[in-house]
Amino acid sequence: MITPMQQIPVEIRQMAHEDIAQVADIERRSYEFPWSHGVFRDCLLAGYTCIVMEREESAVGYSILSVAAGEAHILNLCVDPKFRELGYGEQLFDELLGRARDMEVREIFLEVRPSNETAIGLYRKKGFRLISSRPAYYQGREGREDAAVYSKLIKKR
Ligand SMILES: CC(C)(COP(=O)(O)OP(=O)(O)OC[C@H]1O[C@@H](n2cnc3c(N)ncnc32)[C@H](O)[C@@H]1OP(=O)(O)O)[C@@H](O)C(=O)NCCC(=O)NCCS
Repeated sequence: MITPMQQIPVEIRQMAHEDIAQVADIERRSYEFPWSHGVFRDCLLAGYTCIVMEREESAVGYSILSVAAGEAHILNLCVDPKFRELGYGEQLFDELLGRARDMEVREIFLEVRPSNETAIGLYRKKGFRLISSRPAYYQGREGREDAAVYSKLIKKR
């Protein structure tokens, strides 16, 4: 059994190249079509906001945000399957939203598979609303799948 989050402190910090092996391992256990090591490396090299949540010196989750011209795009949000439903995903998401606000982002966007009810539950809880759909956005088992696009306006502090 996983010890409740209240009893073990977690830290959210900037992702480093040294984190990629652990992050890619969580990614591989979480998605049917995972990002490769190279994609994470490119995100770091591109200067995207890449954060990792650490618990007892191991990564338990991560998230990636790109920002340009006042708009932000959430590119990934993931928690290790062993540590889900403990509030970590929400904590990571809140951190990302705070960072977006600090960068004076006006609107934040994300894509999600319409079947991903867990993630959609979190996004809706945080005030994201469905705005459109992107046809054939995701790789699927049988051809391409559409993405649901959600967005949220960010209020200035
Ligand atoms: C989406 C994800 C990050 C949520 O992480 P988590 O740590 O389990 O989530 P939390 O415990 O912080 O829960 C936050 C909210 O998510 C939603 N949620 C979490 N688990 C859920 C479940 N099993 N069913 C429905 N909603 C769920 C709820 O809205 C929850 O809020 P609540 O506890 O007030 O009901 C995690 O499930 C994950 O990594 N999924 C695989 C990767 C992925 O699909 N990422 C999104 C790509 S767009």
